[in-house]
Amino acid sequence: MDMKKLAGKEAAEYVQDGMLVGLGTGSTAYHMVNAVGERVKNGLRIQAIPTSKATEEQARALGIPLLGIDEIDHVDLCIDGVDEIDPAFNAIKGGGGALYREKVVASLAREVIWIMDESKLVDQIGAFPLPVEIAQYGAKQAIAKMEGYGWNPVLRVRDGKTFVTDNGNFIADLQLGAGFAIEDVKTKLDGIVGVLEHGLFLNMCKRILVGCADGTVKTIENESK
Ligand code: A5P
Repeated sequence: MDMKKLAGKEAAEYVQDGMLVGLGTGSTAYHMVNAVGERVKNGLRIQAIPTSKATEEQARALGIPLLGIDEIDHVDLCIDGVDEIDPAFNAIKGGGGALYREKVVASLAREVIWIMDESKLVDQIGAFPLPVEIAQYGAKQAIAKMEGYGWNPVLRVRDGKTFVTDNGNFIADLQLGAGFAIEDVKTKLDGIVGVLEHGLFLNMCKRILVGCADGTVKTIENESK
């Protein structure tokens, strides 16, 4: 079976009756949402908050009861994919452009599970470009600031057009390279006007579920949580 599907299906088993569940975005989360939908069809009683319009549409079609962000004050369990993660559970997310809502929902969660295939496990994050969500107004100046820091930002383009997030903003993808100074970049990003959020999700998860080529799912617990 597909490694992402293995992880997604296994993660759905962590969902329990009565939970308010954060539903992630991307090709791995897609499988998890399907598996949660299947369990709802079989009687599981939950409510969920989606992290993107795409996931909202998928979950609604599956009959998963949904709430809006203004209707919740916490999330019991958030399950989402990652683009890269290191042994200290520092992750890069946002390859699909949903990082802002993903971070809002994950930050409200009592427990976070990241799901992935083996390719996402790395010694040092940074080979995958770090997505940064920036406001359209002032984007040029924010990108110039990032260029000044030597981060080689690339304004994301899809199908020949500047990519626009579910929140109406742009994404700049930073080419930092594996082993970049995580805390330094984070601090500098937080100080740039027009940066709304970035794809650094540092030590947020309780455990990761990794779908492996041999058909198993490896569970790695984060003992610091
Ligand atoms: C979406 O914006 C991302 O954060 C995804 O969760 C991440 O890119 C993982 O995506 P895949 O599961 O599709 O690899």
